[in-house]
Amino acid sequence: MISLSKKYLTSISDLTDKEILGLIEHAIESKKSSNELQPLTGKTLALMFEKPSTRTRLSFETAMFQLGGNTIYLNSNDLQLSRGESIEDTAKTISLYVDCLVARVYSHGTILQLAQNCKIPVINGLSDLYHPCQILADLMTIFEYKKSFEGLTLAWVGDGNNVCNDLLIGCAKMGIDIKAAIPQSYVPPQVILDLVTKEAELKNSSFTIVREPIDAVRDADIVVTDTFVSIGNELEDKKRRSTFSPKYQVNGKLMGYSKDDAIFMHCLPAKRGQEVTADVIDGKKSVVWNEAENRLHVQKSVLLGLLS
Ligand code: CP
Ligand code: NVA
Repeated sequence: MISLSKKYLTSISDLTDKEILGLIEHAIESKKSSNELQPLTGKTLALMFEKPSTRTRLSFETAMFQLGGNTIYLNSNDLQLSRGESIEDTAKTISLYVDCLVARVYSHGTILQLAQNCKIPVINGLSDLYHPCQILADLMTIFEYKKSFEGLTLAWVGDGNNVCNDLLIGCAKMGIDIKAAIPQSYVPPQVILDLVTKEAELKNSSFTIVREPIDAVRDADIVVTDTFVSIGNELEDKKRRSTFSPKYQVNGKLMGYSKDDAIFMHCLPAKRGQEVTADVIDGKKSVVWNEAENRLHVQKSVLLGLLS
């Protein structure tokens, strides 16, 4: 039985450290068993997406199916939302028919408006600020490979984006030391840096922003990056690539500074040759496919926590 104190998941900061560990432990157990009960029979999950997705959509739809429930995929362009119906009225309408909503949106404000106006649990499937489901899968993957969160150092290299924000918060909550190499003009907003610092202080762990990727990766247990150009940043493509490349690319040489048993993670989709080279993402330290698979398992735990 998973119990969550909040009936929504807008950011990893909506979960306590104990809740995160409970979700991960449940997911690791359920990953082992193929004969599952179908506890969500009769329940329906709507997925409202403003942006493309491969993993988030597939893993939520499969998770719901395996738990006995149904899903309805809503491309937001097909809704009356695209003709001016308000978020509030859309949220109230969705709540009349289904039991839970996953939303992938441009502006995090839309997630908050949905959560405020829906009578059902709302899960953030990625906004411009946060990606909590990804970070649960990342923490699960770290726990699987390292068996504990104690004494670990995570290096983030690259853009201070949605994945970075929630990953820093999540790692700080679990007591993982963090070194982030992010160009000055792309560091996360101060409010997020303050939150990470506060969470790290509570756990006696450390959080440092460094300028040199080597200083982040040296002796790290976990190295993580993400695309230089997130969905919605396409107009900045050229400027971003010239800021990040080649200094913030995770290549074999940079990865060589990490511990021998370090793991490399990436939420995917990846651009080989930009933020990461093929020898790293397809190499022996990479755990990206297990990380992607874990989206399915940990989201089942989230659905059960919010719906049963
Ligand atoms: N990592 C992730 O969220 O992938 P998608 O954009 O394919 O859903
Ligand atoms: N930072 C990326 C993550 C995609 C899963 C984006 O927002 O496009």
